[in-house]
Amino acid sequence: MLAMVLNHPGNEHTFHAEERAIPVSTSTDSVLKIMAFGLNYAELLTRNGESPDVKFPRVIGIEAVGTVSDTTTDSGFHVGQTVMTLMGGLGREFDGSYEEYALIPNHQLYPLPIKDSWAQLATIPESFYTAYGSLNRLRLSTGAHLLIRGGTSNAGIAALLLAKAMGYTVSTTSRNSDKLTTLQNLGADETLLDCGSLETTTSFDGILELVGTSTLRDSLQHLAPTGTAVVTGGLGGEWSLPDFSPFEIPGYLTNFQSTNVNAQLLSQAVALIKDHRLQLPIAQTFKLTDIAQAHQAMVNSHKIGKIVVIANHE
Ligand SMILES: NC(=O)c1ccc[n+]([C@@H]2O[C@H](COP(=O)([O-])OP(=O)(O)OC[C@H]3O[C@@H](n4cnc5c(N)ncnc54)[C@H](OP(=O)(O)O)[C@@H]3O)[C@@H](O)[C@H]2O)c1
Repeated sequence: MLAMVLNHPGNEHTFHAEERAIPVSTSTDSVLKIMAFGLNYAELLTRNGESPDVKFPRVIGIEAVGTVSDTTTDSGFHVGQTVMTLMGGLGREFDGSYEEYALIPNHQLYPLPIKDSWAQLATIPESFYTAYGSLNRLRLSTGAHLLIRGGTSNAGIAALLLAKAMGYTVSTTSRNSDKLTTLQNLGADETLLDCGSLETTTSFDGILELVGTSTLRDSLQHLAPTGTAVVTGGLGGEWSLPDFSPFEIPGYLTNFQSTNVNAQLLSQAVALIKDHRLQLPIAQTFKLTDIAQAHQAMVNSHKIGKIVVIANHE
């Protein structure tokens, strides 16, 4: 089988195509035939050597969808079952998705009972789990007014789709006025141009902050006294708030991290995706052998949607 291996950090041309033996299941791990996976900016940082805990050589990639191709009878899975995996050390502590087959701990395989193309299924794990986990932290009631800051990011679009399915009113942002119509077409009730500060008189019940601490102070200006803001992203490149006082928080402030997956939350997200036929746009698809071009697209493409790599064909 083909694995695109990083023997050391470097640019997008550092991936080395390696022929490896297909792994064999163990008492704790099953073999996943990887059909497709989405790309994440975090993988570009790992490739650059900016993830100090990642040791090389490593097959990176923090999420994948595919079928179980080898497993033991007591794993809870059967050969041919459609599953997904994400996070929990995937592509960091052990080899991840940039290969045709991967050995995955059984407790990190999750059923994916949705019928769709592999490319479409590949948009689900990290973006929808992050979005749903973040919304869950907000504890909103039906009809609540949500603000998504960083609305054109994949997590932002997944949050918009989920939030509409959950019955919220959604305002969402972009720095780019050209993208606002796309957000409306995806179901946003209101779109706001983000110029570093937001022009709105609304007091939001919930705020999903994906731009991060660079806009958090401004976001909190628009939070209702009983509202909650969740910090999940750092698109603005900042992850802390200088001279922060807790008295700046009008309501409640929390965070979400997808590092350790809560299987119950993930299955609730999958149920919403299935019931409401939610589809995150796909920006571009690539072959596994074109991983260098896929990484270039992460930097250069300004299209809305997930970049997906197809690892195997049926
Ligand atoms: N906490 C967690 O567990 C978790 C999990 C996954 C991702 N994340 C974080 O969540 C964020 C979103 O991730 P993603 O993969 O969904 O992102 P993504 O799809 O790569 O987001 C791309 C969009 O971000 C916006 N953007 C880029 N730079 C920006 C800046 N300096 N200021 C404001 N907006 C900027 C751009 O939108 P416009 O041009 O339209 O403004 C761009 O289209 C990232 O910070 C990521 O690290 C966190």
